[in-house]
Amino acid sequence: MKSLSTDQLRQAYLDFFQTKGHAVIPGAPLVPENDPTVLFTTAGMHPLVPYLLGEPHPAGKRLTDVQRSVRTQDIDEVGDASHLTFFEMLGNWSLGDYFKENAISMSFEFLTKVLEIPVAWLAVTCFEGDKDAPRDDESAGIWKKLGIPEDRIAFMPKANNWWGPAGQTGPCGPDTEMFYWVGEGEPTGNPKTHEKEWMEIWNDVFMQYNKQADGTFVPLKQQNVDTGMGLERTAAVLQGAKSAYETDRLKPILDAVKQLVTVPDSPDTIRHERIIVDHLRSATFIIADGVQPSNVDQGYILRRLIRRAIRSARTLGIEHAGSFTPSIAREVIKQYGHVYPHVKAKEAEILDALGKEEQQFGKTLQEGLKVVNKYIVQTLGDSNGLKRIPGDVAFHFYDTYGFPLELTKEIVGEHGFTVDEEGFKKAFEAHQSLSRAGAEQKFKGGLQDHSGETTKLHTATHLLNAALRKVLGDHVYQKGSNITAERLRFDFSHPDKMTPEQVKQAEDLVNEAIRKDLPVTYHVTTVDGAKQEGAIGVFDARYGAEVKVYVVGDDAKGIFSKEICGGPHVARTGMIGNLKIQKEESSSAGVRRIKAVISGGPEEVEVAKEA
Ligand code: ALA
Repeated sequence: MKSLSTDQLRQAYLDFFQTKGHAVIPGAPLVPENDPTVLFTTAGMHPLVPYLLGEPHPAGKRLTDVQRSVRTQDIDEVGDASHLTFFEMLGNWSLGDYFKENAISMSFEFLTKVLEIPVAWLAVTCFEGDKDAPRDDESAGIWKKLGIPEDRIAFMPKANNWWGPAGQTGPCGPDTEMFYWVGEGEPTGNPKTHEKEWMEIWNDVFMQYNKQADGTFVPLKQQNVDTGMGLERTAAVLQGAKSAYETDRLKPILDAVKQLVTVPDSPDTIRHERIIVDHLRSATFIIADGVQPSNVDQGYILRRLIRRAIRSARTLGIEHAGSFTPSIAREVIKQYGHVYPHVKAKEAEILDALGKEEQQFGKTLQEGLKVVNKYIVQTLGDSNGLKRIPGDVAFHFYDTYGFPLELTKEIVGEHGFTVDEEGFKKAFEAHQSLSRAGAEQKFKGGLQDHSGETTKLHTATHLLNAALRKVLGDHVYQKGSNITAERLRFDFSHPDKMTPEQVKQAEDLVNEAIRKDLPVTYHVTTVDGAKQEGAIGVFDARYGAEVKVYVVGDDAKGIFSKEICGGPHVARTGMIGNLKIQKEESSSAGVRRIKAVISGGPEEVEVAKEA
């Protein structure tokens, strides 16, 4: 087996797929643009959904990239050898090009020829079939032909061997997963017979279905391949590391944490050290992509990650008065700054945000501790024997002092108390604010359905962007966009509150453009070409060498807007119906936010095509 550093593995993957005709595209930011139903990019396929559904990608039909990803659904597993909330996903895609035979052969070649992993240490799983799709004997047959013995191939149900949609609806399909033996001694059995001993390292998804809102699976017009390899896990394999945390890039961060620990070793110590490494690595990358700790959406997840890390630090006797989290983030940036220059560039901002959050949490922690202790003393005074904190009280600690349930459990545990966790959950559900409820729901992951309504809102956002620049000036730039089936939300740079007249003017301009029923088309060009023709959009590394520019209007009726965007959009502005701005408010310093709704357009829309 080859021994590769994390950096070498990342490069070897891209190089290999480039020799197989794949264009290397840049990864997208962690906060999806124009994708309202998911908080973070959770897989390489996320930014590619429109292309998996049939939009042509400017770089072609074979793509490969490294996608920084955040997944929080396994947060409770973090602390073991392989689960992470932030990870780098290596991926390759076929957009209606090759399918099972090629995908599996290339995976096999990369694993056994490039990485030189012995076949005996590999096992695979395939979809066993159900009412929605047949058993995937084809994939199993390809693996067998390549040299994977029959007893290393397991057939498993949808829960294991089906990937996607990332939300309620969207592209998905059966998958075949690749595993490496991490058990004691010689490899035995397969992931079905020895679940814990086989670690998943790569997944080839055959995205050939579009899951509908009613739960049915409709064949996609093209058969896609979507793959994802865990960089940290595979690096651990190649480096003979006993966990992802002992690989070359994570070990220095772990060591930085270990240096600060002041309590004697205990079985729990390793877990907490790993939680700190994982959560602060996530937090560093999340802040680098423009998120600040807050009580809503991405900011709330970020806050939770930081506070959980601080809680673990507290357990390990690490001082946390404001410089602990920045010191770990500094090490994270040292390990990744050369691969992710945007993280290095934001170093000061990241350290500052973490330091402030640490200080703030320190204060609420102290205040909260006083209240919790007082409560305990009072209850002990009652001494009716039941040392149990009611759920609503635990929720109060959570809601008022930002105490995660685990923290309350830990503190009261020191006094021999338990917490009514069921009661806490009930109180949480009953009291949780709408935004948090929304965050939790999106937290679980969901993708925008590219329905008529969201497509219309998407085009309406372009019109609004152009209108605001006409009314307010060229300093207006998109700072964020969020679309649900009901409304659009648009954040843009502008120093002052808009006057009611300006709001009306912008709204009128958009509706005029809608009434003119302007055609919408796109063309593919280079980033420089797009700049030269005056297209707006975010010109940074996230775009590939080639981009799509969506144009609203034509020479006859005038060009209303030109914007770099992945699409899809409606074919004519008339389909939007009518736009109403409902709110104009402050979003953050120097950034305003508009919420707008549309009405009156047709339910089914035609999608904009290449000019
Ligand atoms: N999208 C697939 C995954 O995340 C490759 O496993």
